[in-house]
Amino acid sequence: MTVICRNIFFAGLLLMGLSACKTGIDKDTYGKFQNSGSEITNQAQAVLLSNVGSAIQKGGTEFAVEFCHLKASPLIDSLSQVFSCNISRVSEKNRNPNNALNKTERELWKVFQTRTLPDTLLRLNSKIIYYKRIHTAMPACLKCHGNVDGEIDSATLEKIQKLYPNDLATGYQLNDFRGLWKVVFEE
Ligand code: HEC
Repeated sequence: MTVICRNIFFAGLLLMGLSACKTGIDKDTYGKFQNSGSEITNQAQAVLLSNVGSAIQKGGTEFAVEFCHLKASPLIDSLSQVFSCNISRVSEKNRNPNNALNKTERELWKVFQTRTLPDTLLRLNSKIIYYKRIHTAMPACLKCHGNVDGEIDSATLEKIQKLYPNDLATGYQLNDFRGLWKVVFEE
């Protein structure tokens, strides 16, 4: 019964388009966390992009894969400390096993897939969680997330497969829906 109720609740949530009142978060709080979430993820995105860009320039794509492997999480973790929240990225086709979707996020993923919704907030107990779309918006993304027969060069692909034997994050085209930023705020 609880499961059914929860599902009905969730279906309701989806139908209402995740508007502020239906997520159980009042309008002012919604606006406040949406702004913070958006600013934090813009900064995190900028930090990751500039770091991966200089790694590619320094040692090519293959080197940059190793760099992301070692540095993507620590970079995001240190930003989490600065902003007193928990920042991460999740995806249905994840490369890093830590970035898989949980059950709620699998439902949320469908909403982002079928709608042009840019971002949303969810409440989970005492937490407010902000999610924002990530797209493969630059041709450079495809050097590591594109087609395995050509777009990703063979040395880079080999490195990816070595570091991430269960990698799912290839086969994307330009501007595909790639993942979600996730920012967890403790109220
Ligand atoms: C040099 C190779 C490289 C480039 C270029 C690159 N990525 Fe990645 N990407 C990676 C690696 C490696 C990981 C796994 C990082 C980790 O272990 O935390 C990753 C992880 C991600 C994740 C987290 C989810 C997951 O699959 O683990 C997202 C989202 C993502 N990349 C999006 C992008 C986008 C968008 C671009 C273009 C702006 C991009 N990437 C460019 C190599 C790359």
